[in-house]
Amino acid sequence: MREMTLSILKPDAVRRNITGAINSYFEKAGLSIVAQKRIKLPYEQAEAFYAVHKERPFFQSLCKSISSGPVVVQVLSGDGVIALNRKIMGATDPANADHGTIRKDFALSIEENSVHGSDSPENAAKEIQFFFSEIEIIP
Ligand code: CMP
Repeated sequence: MREMTLSILKPDAVRRNITGAINSYFEKAGLSIVAQKRIKLPYEQAEAFYAVHKERPFFQSLCKSISSGPVVVQVLSGDGVIALNRKIMGATDPANADHGTIRKDFALSIEENSVHGSDSPENAAKEIQFFFSEIEIIP
């Protein structure tokens, strides 16, 4: 089933100029980038985006990290793209990520793990809406 998911290329990836390298993982896997923009997330917006994690001990540090520099936010489209993107990204902690995944190849740590991807259809819909209006998404 054709789906859409939200992807974020995090500050550690933008800083190291590897956004094109990461995009090639998506495109090689047959996913389409149907919306994309470079933004800098204010700290308060980061808190709103990661609200599901607000009770976690790493919440403040996570919000500081994602708002520390420019990010590239994207909408990816394809068959089963939510699960497929999570496979392409690899495990949250790069130490546990499979070979050939983005996080294994590029992530610096569990926090600076280069990419974010929605984890469910419900969150994908919410997260896409958080960053994009309908007219910005060109399937
Ligand atoms: P992401 O996919 O953006 O979703 C939530 C983020 O929290 C996750 O990637 C990690 O960057 C971060 N995270 C998850 N667990 C930890 C942890 N134990 N310590 C620090 N950061 C974490």
